Amino acid sequence: MVSSPSQPPIQGYKVRPARRGDASPIVALLAEFGLSADPNTVTWIISHPEMELLVAADQLDKVIGFITLSHRPVLKTGGRAATIDELNVAPAWRRKGVGRELLRRVVERAKVLSVKRLELQTYGAVNGDLSAFFRACGFEQAESAVFRLK
Ligand SMILES: CC(C)(COP(=O)(O)OP(=O)(O)OC[C@H]1O[C@@H](n2cnc3c(N)ncnc32)[C@H](O)[C@@H]1OP(=O)(O)O)[C@@H](O)C(=O)NCCC(=O)NCCS
Repeated sequence: MVSSPSQPPIQGYKVRPARRGDASPIVALLAEFGLSADPNTVTWIISHPEMELLVAADQLDKVIGFITLSHRPVLKTGGRAATIDELNVAPAWRRKGVGRELLRRVVERAKVLSVKRLELQTYGAVNGDLSAFFRACGFEQAESAVFRLK
């Protein structure tokens, strides 16, 4: 069973499940990091039965961060395993506890789903800042190798 990173949220934003209308703002947020995404894929995630998408929104309900979780039964895990596929916080909102709160909410959801293993895979090398963030939120680096079809 997973344990939670505990921290209260700061004032000025709320975390809520994503709605269809959040697809374009999420795509726009990803574009800020130089990543391209398709609003239809965001909508697909929102309606997918084995995925969760939570957004952090400011007082005007503008999306300032989001996190996605996918989950499925895995034999080796002896139950449900879950993966955090995306976690992004707008640069102007970083170091205010938003990322930690999004993670905390997903961990709570994973507990409700009786998830036995919760993990996140980063693409490319893990830098010190990212490592510090995940460690601060109760995650540790796992021994694993990823093989990807060329
Ligand atoms: C990683 C990311 C989600 C963190 O979000 P955030 O809202 O800035 O993080 P928080 O404010 O909740 O940080 C919680 C704690 O993590 C640690 N931490 C966060 N960012 C850190 C940094 N850049 N350097 C060192 N420690 C950091 C700190 O201990 C922090 O607590 P503190 O501010 O009280 O010291 C955000 O930087 C981001 O969107 N990065 C780009 C996308 C990305 O790399 N996503 C993750 C992989 S998919």
